[in-house]
Amino acid sequence: MVVGELLARAQARLRAAGIDEARREAEILLAACLGWERARLTAYPEHALTERQQRRFECWVRRRAQREPIPYITRRAWFYGLELVVGRGVLVPRPETELLVELFLEWAATQKFDSPILIDAGVGSGAIAIACLKHASLWGGVGIDRSGRALRIARINRRRAGLESRLLLIQGEWLSALCSRVAHAVLSNPPYVLPDEWDALPPEVARYEPRLALLVPSEDPLRPYRHLALDARRVLVPSGLLAFETSPRLAPLLAEQLPRWGFKNPQIRRDYSNRERVVYAYLE
Ligand SMILES: C[S@@+](CC[C@H](N)C(=O)[O-])C[C@H]1O[C@@H](n2cnc3c(N)ncnc32)[C@H](O)[C@@H]1O
Repeated sequence: MVVGELLARAQARLRAAGIDEARREAEILLAACLGWERARLTAYPEHALTERQQRRFECWVRRRAQREPIPYITRRAWFYGLELVVGRGVLVPRPETELLVELFLEWAATQKFDSPILIDAGVGSGAIAIACLKHASLWGGVGIDRSGRALRIARINRRRAGLESRLLLIQGEWLSALCSRVAHAVLSNPPYVLPDEWDALPPEVARYEPRLALLVPSEDPLRPYRHLALDARRVLVPSGLLAFETSPRLAPLLAEQLPRWGFKNPQIRRDYSNRERVVYAYLE
């Protein structure tokens, strides 16, 4: 079968599965399957796929029709201009997390530390640490995650980014493995979905993404932040940066708590949808 025909069939299948942007998604899947730029599909509608390519594409469309996220199917996601490997068991990096990277880079450009170190707590695919280190060439980093699966993927991304000598990846509980006063910045996008928000999540997230990466307990939603902030108090140098991505619901609560946990001048930054997204402060 040829490109044009396959796209039309895939579009119909995805639309029937309730996917809004069925044409766009069919094109993304076919382009990834062929290793092409999307625009090339329009230029070569009569291009015939091999049997193998066609079987693979049909399998991908079937998976997407069951609402599996595209990055898990193609095993690729884009973050801060970098192509990352992703897979089941690791959170797909989100565009709003880029705000945390921007904040760090702005702040880092104004600092004069000797051999500075950033910590990415809950490193997942490595998105935050890798994007920061790619743009802050004097910095080294440590990425920590409890999940062995996430760390396997983070190692792949570290190698692809050429950061093996600058980014240490370790398995552990938040910052517990780190010594005192070793870090100049602690960045984290910890879980922040409340159990009462779970049912409203799209099936792509609720069915496929790791719960460990998403859910916080309703009786104590600030638990991961408190744990991290109290650990960061020990691990950071004076005036070091602590910055979290969070939900608009938790952001004001978190900003209010940070001074009680030893951090000064808490501030909130809004994302491109004008929602309170990043909360940050500095060690006293
Ligand atoms: C929301 S995901 C963020 C992943 C990645 N930093 C990103 O922004 O795409 C949270 C990550 O924290 C990790 N995590 C959850 N609880 C943890 C804990 N107690 N200690 C270390 N990592 C933890 C999860 O495995 C997951 O990879």
